[in-house]
Parts: sequence; C-alpha cells; structure tokens
Amino acid sequence: MPLSTIILAAGQGTRMRSRLPKVLHNLGGKPLLEHVVETAMSLDGGTIHVVYGHVGDQVRDALSHCPVNWVEQTEQLGTGHAAAQALPGIPDQDTVLVLYGDVPLIRSETLQHLQEAAGPDTVALLTAHLEHPRGYGRILRDEQGHVVGIVEEKDASTQQRLISEINTGFLAANSGRLKRWLEGLDNRNANGEYYLTDVIARAVADGVTIQTIAPGSEEEIHGINDRIQLADQERRYQRRQAEHFMNEGVTLIDPGRFDLRGNLEAGRDVIIDVNVVLEGEVYLGDEVTLGPNTVIRNTRIEKGATVLSHCHIDGAIIGAGARVGPFARIRPETELAPEAQVGNFVEIKKTKVGKGSKINHLSYVGDTTVGCKVNIGAGTITCNYDGANKHQTIIGDGAFIGSDTQLVAPVEVGAGATIGAGSTITKDAPPNELTLSRAPQTTRNGWKRPAKKK
Ligand code: UD1
Ligand code: CA
Repeated sequence: MPLSTIILAAGQGTRMRSRLPKVLHNLGGKPLLEHVVETAMSLDGGTIHVVYGHVGDQVRDALSHCPVNWVEQTEQLGTGHAAAQALPGIPDQDTVLVLYGDVPLIRSETLQHLQEAAGPDTVALLTAHLEHPRGYGRILRDEQGHVVGIVEEKDASTQQRLISEINTGFLAANSGRLKRWLEGLDNRNANGEYYLTDVIARAVADGVTIQTIAPGSEEEIHGINDRIQLADQERRYQRRQAEHFMNEGVTLIDPGRFDLRGNLEAGRDVIIDVNVVLEGEVYLGDEVTLGPNTVIRNTRIEKGATVLSHCHIDGAIIGAGARVGPFARIRPETELAPEAQVGNFVEIKKTKVGKGSKINHLSYVGDTTVGCKVNIGAGTITCNYDGANKHQTIIGDGAFIGSDTQLVAPVEVGAGATIGAGSTITKDAPPNELTLSRAPQTTRNGWKRPAKKK
C-alpha cells in the first residue's frame, strides 16, 4: 500500500510561553518539527503533509527547505479536525501515517512497524505502558483484550484513569476509511474538540481490527509541551547521539556533557573531553583530541590534531597534527596547514597559516597569508582595517616576527625576514633582512623620581 504521512503541527503550544511556535523550538540545534519531517522522509513513502497553524508563515518559512505539502488549519479545533484538513489531498487506497510535530524522537523503525501492521481492515496504533500515564489518552480494551476505543484523560472516569496503557497518538490507517470515520466526528467532550482518537471506536464499529504496536523505547513517544520537557528530551537526544559515536570508536569522557547540534563525522580514537559543543557540520579525523569547554562550528579538523581547552572555532580547517589553544579563537575562512600551532589568546580570521608555523601568544591575525615555518611573536597585530576597508598582509616562509609588532596592511614581509620586536611595519620588509622601527633608547643619567612634598 502506498504511504502518505500527515504531521500535526498546528497546536499553539501555550505552555512554552513563547513568541515562537512550539514546533520551532530547537532540539539538538534543529526545530522539533524538522526532526519529525526528517524521520518521515527516511520512510519509503509519498507526500508528507504538514498541518500548520496561522501564526504568520513562521513555521513554513523556517522549514522552507523541506519538501513537504503545507496544509493550513486556520482554527485549532482538535487533532481530528487537523488530520481532516490534509486528507482530501491523499488518495483513498493509501496508508496514512499520523505523526506529531512536537514528538521529535520517534524512530523510523517504529514507524515502519506501524505502517506494516496497517491494512484496509486494520488500524495500527502505537501504544505504551507507562508508570505515570497522567495526561495521556487511555486505551480501552474488552474482556478478550481487543482494543475498543480511546478515552482522553479529561473525559475518563476514575477507574479508566488507572489504565496504564496510553495512546501515543501515532497511528496508521487506510486513507479512504479514515476520511469516512473523521466525517462523522463530533466535539461533545471535555475539550469541545474533534478528537482523532475517536476514530478508533468508529473503526471497531466497522469491524476493523486495532493492532497495537509498542515503540522500541519509551523516549520515542514523549511529547514536548513545556520547556522542562524540552530540556529532558534534549538530554535524551544527546545521549542517543553520544552512544552512537561511542559505538563508532569515539571516546567521550562524559556522555552526559556532550552536545552535538548538527552533524558530526568522526574517525577512530577521537577523544572528546567534557562540555564540548559541536554545531553545524563538523568533521573530526582519526585521533583528534578536543579539550574541555570548547565550541566548534562548521569546521574540519584533520587527523591527529589537538584542540586544547576553552577554544572557539568557527568555519575553519585545522590541518593534521596541528595544535590549537588553550583559549584560541579561530574565525571563519581560516586554514591551518598540518603541524601549525595557534596558542593562547590568539584570534585568527580569513587567514591561511602554512605548515609548521607558530602563532603562540596574544595575537590578532586577520586577512593574512602566513607561509611555512613562520614564527609570530607574542602580541603581534595585523592592522587589517583602515576604518573603511580590509587589507591583506603577506608573510613569507621562514619569517620571524618579533613580539609586539604591528603589521599595517597592506604590507608584505619577505621570506626569511626578521622583524625587530616592538616595530610598526608600514612598508614592505625585504626578504632575509632585519627590519625594525623603533624609537632610539635613551638613559637620563642622574634623574631622580619626584618625592612627596612634606
Ligand atoms: C493527544 C491525544 C492523546 C494522546 C496524546 C499523546 C487526541 C484527542 N489526544 O492528546 O490521546 O495520549 O496526544 O501525546 O488526539 N494539533 C493540531 N491542531 C489542533 C490540535 C492539535 O495540529 O487543532 C496538533 C498539535 O500541534 C500537536 C498534536 O496535534 O502536535 C497533539 O495535540 P495536543 O493538543 O497536544 O494533544 P494532546 O492533548 O497531547
Ligand atoms: Ca501533546
């Protein structure tokens, strides 16, 4: 049976107390809804219909890159009403899978089981037994154990509230039949809403079997209604990612303090210390070591490179065997060649640093090309900005820049040149020569410090 998916995402999410629609809050650096869309895309299915509310076009705009069909639900009249908005666009013979924009950790294997269990005469329903079932709809079964309906907590009797089997909301059913069951819904219940869950009793009345499926793990079915649940799911999600990478040969000193907000490709024997945040697209080659308290975004770090503690690295390429930090800031369009070293309190942007070169202390290097085996002394500053435009600095192979030098760009230091400490270099320095600019040193013989008047 061909598959169509409906993702319900029109709810207000009032308990988030946010200007942002709930489904746009981030989990692992990505909107909740995007997680669900990606899981839906991983299934071998047809169109994905997303039912969204009328909070401007915020949700559509945020996910404009996702190949989905947007269906507006102008009034939030309930889950049944929401599903009914999408169904006219789905052929009768399809199996419809209903997902939720605020339940992000559902796994595609679980959805596959659900899809496979559904048929023209079978509705597949994802249910779970919870120790604390509060808040969920409860599954009603007859004496033979067959599902006969779902009762929402608000509508449930005290006796029914003791039932521990809950409705996760996820279901798969034949499109044509679902349309007919939804047409006859009413909203005579505690919430005054059209409940999708009411289709179960209708299906049973039609002689259809309700086949229940259990999720692979409980975390998959947790919905996010407030920021406490958001934080809980974030940790579960990070744990899931951490375990994946540990199984792939990455050492995480503490998986509870690992945060990946994007995609990571990591080689063998990578070691990641505590409180490392990885964002966007990150590549870590074999034997890369990341020290504690470091943020790395959209960066490639090649084999055997070491990042010491407290670094911020964004949009860079760090060559094999290079060493960065502690306390280094590497900004976009920086490339460190193999074996380069960037030390503490150094900021680098839009700069290529050649093989084996060292910028070890307290420097700013921007819009610069640094050759190989260059040594840049402490406190060197490339003055790349004249207040209106950025200018380039070029430093040739083997140059030695003395401490506390300002290189006023545009300027070029030739290969093998030496710049004397404390220089302000405004003109090109020739190769292999010593260049310096420095006021002559004087001594006032016999000079006395002023003394305090009595
Ligand atoms: C729903 C189920 C309940 C189940 C629970 C699991 C119903 C009536 N109840 O309850 O049995 O235990 O999920 O989490 O279905 N939405 C719309 N339009 C609407 C209303 C809701 O798109 O008019 C969307 C929401 O954005 C959300 C989803 O549907 O993604 C569920 O709605 P919500 O109001 O949270 O349902 P629950 O009360 O949690
Ligand atoms: Ca909910």
